[in-house]
Amino acid sequence: MRAVLAEGAGGPEVLVVRDLPDPAPGPGEVVLAVAAAGLNRADLLQRQGFYPPPPGASDVLGMECSGTVAAVGTEVKGWAVGDQACALLSAGAYATQVAVPVGQLMPVPEGVDLVAAAALPEVAGTVWSNVFMLAALQPGEVLLVHGGAGGIGSFAIQLATQLGARVLTTAGTAEKRDFCLTLGAEVAIDYHDEDFVEVVKEHTGGAGANVVLDNMGAVYLERNVSALATEGRLVVIGLQGGTKGELDLNALMRKRAAILATTLRARPSEEKAAICASVVEHVWPLVAEGKVREIVDTTIPLDDVRRAHELMESGTHTGKILLTTS
Ligand SMILES: NC(=O)c1ccc[n+]([C@@H]2O[C@H](COP(=O)([O-])OP(=O)(O)OC[C@H]3O[C@@H](n4cnc5c(N)ncnc54)[C@H](OP(=O)(O)O)[C@@H]3O)[C@@H](O)[C@H]2O)c1
Repeated sequence: MRAVLAEGAGGPEVLVVRDLPDPAPGPGEVVLAVAAAGLNRADLLQRQGFYPPPPGASDVLGMECSGTVAAVGTEVKGWAVGDQACALLSAGAYATQVAVPVGQLMPVPEGVDLVAAAALPEVAGTVWSNVFMLAALQPGEVLLVHGGAGGIGSFAIQLATQLGARVLTTAGTAEKRDFCLTLGAEVAIDYHDEDFVEVVKEHTGGAGANVVLDNMGAVYLERNVSALATEGRLVVIGLQGGTKGELDLNALMRKRAAILATTLRARPSEEKAAICASVVEHVWPLVAEGKVREIVDTTIPLDDVRRAHELMESGTHTGKILLTTS
């Protein structure tokens, strides 16, 4: 198979496409012939040397893909050679083939083409597990989504809106803010020039947001807590603004609020499988009905992986960037 490795740590130039032995399916695994792999911010961090794959995982980059089942291991039920699927992985997706534990495999939602399906596992798994399974966002509650035009953000806006929440969001350009409004956000805040705390208060009668989905970490910690409503839940899923922040815990206590922080990649396979099953049950029907859709900014051939990383680093994309194998 062909697969992408980072040889050394650094910029996109450390990415190389190499020939590696084809994977064989272990017990409880299938091998997918990959149609497309999705890019994630974490891939950039891994390339830079800051985010190694979990112990035992492949050095091949990539945490999600779509493809066709090419081989089935022992103890696998319900999947056969030729089936189309998408998968949530710890590593190994930037390749023409990958072995996948069967619990991390999901059917392609009805109406979604095979390549575009690679845009779904990470965003659906991350948003569903954090905003709904963990923070338990309820219909009628207010969700503040930071970075609403990104891969995660654009999915969070759609899913929360469809499930009856009010969504406020932040984005960096007028074009991206307009896009967030078309996805269902009630307000799109300019994170360069506006104070999101004030805008959230203004649009919630002073109450604040019940849930905040945060990609920035340290730089927004204090302001995110200020933006929370009583009994609000701040879920930190990204650290684009640093890892170490300072907080007056009194602000949290007064609101009886909670800060949660998670990463999907490090979870054991059984937890990923439980999230995948829940996504297929709760999210896929909305995708199949066209109420929530995958948003693909650009598809780029696997051999041009450096260009794909440059595009994500430029921040000019909206939604997902995919690598295709043919
Ligand atoms: N914990 C987990 O399991 C998990 C899983 C997947 C992703 N994530 C995290 O989720 C975040 C989004 O990932 P992604 O794949 O969707 O990447 P992405 O498409 O590149 O999105 C990055 C987002 O960051 C936004 N942003 C940049 N500076 C900002 C600021 N000062 N305030 C608010 N937003 C700002 C960008 O907004 P503009 O484009 O408008 O500038 C963009 O929407 C990343 O931090 C990633 O590490 C976490």
